[in-house]
Amino acid sequence: MTSDQVVLRAPAKINLTLHVTGQRADGYHLLDSLVVFADLGDEIVLTPAAQTSLTINGPFAEGVPADARNLVWKAMDLVGQPHQITLTKNLPNGAGIGGGSADAAAVLRHFGATAGAAGLGADVPVCLRLGAQRMRGVGEQLDPVPGFPTLHAVLVNPGVSVATPQIFAALSSKSHPPMPECLPQDADSADIIGWLAKMRNDLEGPAQNHAPQISQVLAALRNTAQASLVRMSGSGATCFAIFPDATSAQDAAAQLASDHPDWWVRATRLNSPG
Ligand code: C5P
Repeated sequence: MTSDQVVLRAPAKINLTLHVTGQRADGYHLLDSLVVFADLGDEIVLTPAAQTSLTINGPFAEGVPADARNLVWKAMDLVGQPHQITLTKNLPNGAGIGGGSADAAAVLRHFGATAGAAGLGADVPVCLRLGAQRMRGVGEQLDPVPGFPTLHAVLVNPGVSVATPQIFAALSSKSHPPMPECLPQDADSADIIGWLAKMRNDLEGPAQNHAPQISQVLAALRNTAQASLVRMSGSGATCFAIFPDATSAQDAAAQLASDHPDWWVRATRLNSPG
């Protein structure tokens, strides 16, 4: 680690809700989604260089393009200051938790180059700010959700990569009700969990048809002791369960990891300060 290196965090994005409310003429879907970030994610080390280069390591490096196709490289091109990039992929790919978007957003955030974010992908703007946000439009309309509590969660991915366009295309209806106009303000976690239970992820049905392993993950999460809300994030395949405290989340994660050694299982805090 030299003095001109910087280390950036790229936290996982979780859609606590994802309502599909319509479709634009260009095919993109209108969303109403409550988004928070986990205390785990990818890591990026940047070193100034004459030309941009990219090295990828970590448990999910395999298959990730290490060239100008990678969103993190595209973000660096937008910034216009070449760097040697080392990306540690701790997050599964094609997983509904924003991996590539979070990586690009971390670079744009560091350099304050936020203008072209939406051009890199619908989830990049929400990943620029790390707090709880309500995301509408096709991802460009963002409102912070002040006072949102920290939630204890377990994330599970069964190891299937899901192609987002296919899941959106399989929706039988493109027009579901949005969330209520007013979200809970300064509610505690028990109130939020009760409220979340009345919301939805409209992509859960089509994603389960596409990848039946998602149904197994949802069932396994529901079977854990003390899980109070179980849902899929994004277009899948990662699903989450919310727990009353860190201990019950860790216990559930340990049990799931032991029962399903081939699944990616992590206990995490969502929307934790700092
Ligand atoms: O913007 P991004 O490249 O992340 O989106 C991937 C694909 O997901 C899009 O090409 C589109 O098919 C679908 N999508 C959508 N509506 C959104 C976001 C993504 O239809 N709001």
